[in-house]
Order: sequence, then C-alpha cells, then structure tokens
Amino acid sequence: MRILVIGKNGQLGRSIQKIVDTDIKIDKRPIPSEYIFVGREELDLSSDKNISRYFDNNKFNIIINCAAYTQVDRAEQQEELANQINHLAVKQLASIASNQQARLIHISTDYVFDGESNKPYLETDVPNPINVYGRTKLAGEKAIKTIMSMDALVIRTSWLYSEYSNNFVSTMLKLGRERDELSVVSDQMGSPTYSTDLADVILEIIKHKKFRDEAQTTQIYHYSNEGEISWYEFAKQIFKIEKIECKVHPITSQQYPTPAKRPRNTLMNKDKITETFSMNIYNWKKSLKTCIYYYK
Ligand SMILES: NC(=O)c1ccc[n+]([C@@H]2O[C@H](COP(=O)([O-])OP(=O)(O)OC[C@H]3O[C@@H](n4cnc5c(N)ncnc54)[C@H](OP(=O)(O)O)[C@@H]3O)[C@@H](O)[C@H]2O)c1
Repeated sequence: MRILVIGKNGQLGRSIQKIVDTDIKIDKRPIPSEYIFVGREELDLSSDKNISRYFDNNKFNIIINCAAYTQVDRAEQQEELANQINHLAVKQLASIASNQQARLIHISTDYVFDGESNKPYLETDVPNPINVYGRTKLAGEKAIKTIMSMDALVIRTSWLYSEYSNNFVSTMLKLGRERDELSVVSDQMGSPTYSTDLADVILEIIKHKKFRDEAQTTQIYHYSNEGEISWYEFAKQIFKIEKIECKVHPITSQQYPTPAKRPRNTLMNKDKITETFSMNIYNWKKSLKTCIYYYK
C-alpha cells in the first residue's frame, strides 16, 4: 500500500508525518503501508508538466493532498496562482488518481460558504464563496466530483492551527507576550481545528473498513473540533491557558478591514463524518491545550 502525502511542509502535512512516525516507532500499523511525503521541492503544483512528470514515474494506492494556496488575503491579488494550486492542480491530481486507480483524499475549507446561514452548514448546503481563496477551493472540489464519481473523499475543515508554522495561535502567543492589549474580531464565528486531530481523522479513515473494503461514491465530509466561538474568544482562551496578561478588546470586522472578505459564521455540522466512521470529536478547548503544550 503506497500512500502519497502532498504538502509535507504545511501544518497538516507535518501533523500527518508526526503521527505516522510515532505509529512506525510503536509498530501500530495494522496494514503494511509505505508513506511518501512530498513538498514543493519534489512536486511543484504550480506546473502541470511537473505534476505529470512526477506521476509518470510514481504510482500510488492513496493520494492525500494537504497542499494548497492558503494565503486568503494575498489570493485576492494572486488569483491565477491560487486557481492553479487550488483548482487546476487538483483537477490534474483527480485525473491522475483516476488513471492510477488510486483513492484521493483532498482537504477543502469552510470558506466555500458565504457565512450567512444561522444553522450549522451541512455537506448538502449550496456553497457560495465570497473571496478568491474560497472560489478556487470550491472549483477544486467540483473538479474532483466531475472527474472521480468514485473513490475520492473531500474533507472541509476550518480555522486550522498547529504547533507548526504561522497560524492564529502562534500569532496570538507572540503578540500577547509583546503587548499589554490587543483588539480581535468578535463577529466572525466558527470552529477551530487542531491539525493533529484532523491528521488523526485522515489516518483513521484510511484504516477504516468502510474506506478500505468498499468502492465508494465520492463524498464530502465536514470536520472541525467541537464548539463554536469567535476569534476574540479564541484569543482569550489562548491567553488564559498560557496565563498571558494581555487585555483583549472585541472589535467588528468593519473595524479590521482585510483585502479578502471573511464569512460571518461557518459553523459546520459534523454528523456525517462521525456517523460514517464512528468517531468522536474533541472539544476545541481540549485540543487547544494539547497544541499549546507542544509549543513548549
Ligand atoms: N489554515 C487554515 O486555517 C485552513 C482552514 C480551512 C481549510 N484549510 C485547508 O486545509 C489544508 C491544509 O492547510 P494547512 O493550514 O496545513 O496549509 P499550510 O500550512 O499553508 O500548507 C500548505 C502547503 O501547501 C504547499 N504549497 C503551496 N503551493 C505549492 C506548490 N506550488 N507546490 C507544492 N506545494 C505547495 C506549501 O508549501 P511550502 O511550505 O513550500 O510553501 C505548504 O507546505 C489546505 O487544503 C487548506 O486549504 C486550511
């Protein structure tokens, strides 16, 4: 079983690598499998020729795509590049997976929604992205569904953070230690997701009988940690856990304009993933504590 993980230097790619390395150490793998982790150096998604060349020489049973153009604000200026990575490269990966008879696991985002619903989003709700990043990610999802009616799985997640690289938690820890007070947006609601939890879910799905044994129609699933909060509450909890004395002031999105518009409320309903794969989801506060523990 050859499993390719694309995006080895990103938050999710590194989290998957961390778990796989631990599993190998304690020999927890139920089925012999070889994981191959690649980053931009080995597989540059900005070039269709590079992608073709890489897969001409390499065949896989499962392809997990954790790579993406994730800079939401910069995407407004770099639409072509964002579209190449989040849409056209994904389309090509879907064709390759289909030709190689490989399963494809792809990660998408809550930003495919406009955030105007007052109910948690279901997988069947109609997306309506309000920024370039969301539009390109949705185009990637649609390409997968068109090319692979079977054997692909798309997981939409939200507010991803980790002990790796720059994210909201690392930024708050840094700013909170430098400043006495901070203003943080309180009118955007959603669910944070600890990257290790998502990595665990992906690896559990791969081991799951339903994924392994049955030819499956392509599915979208929603996954985040449990709970719904604003960025303001998220910042306050980060400071509370770390006992950082920094006063947090709630502000509106209007008071903090950004190049890309952000959806107001992207809470996602996760019943489909929990029921299909019989899994429990950690509450955001518990996972945040775990993540901050690993910063030390
Ligand atoms: N971060 C969030 O808050 C969030 C929220 C919802 C959904 N998601 C989705 O979750 C997934 C994982 O996100 P993440 O936070 O782990 O992302 P990340 O930390 O930003 O990592 C993305 C990775 O993609 C790679 N990449 C970018 N352009 C590439 C190219 N041309 N060729 C090859 N690789 C390229 C980057 O490589 P380099 O390291 O070389 O730059 C980086 O390692 C993505 O699909 C994202 O859209 C993220």
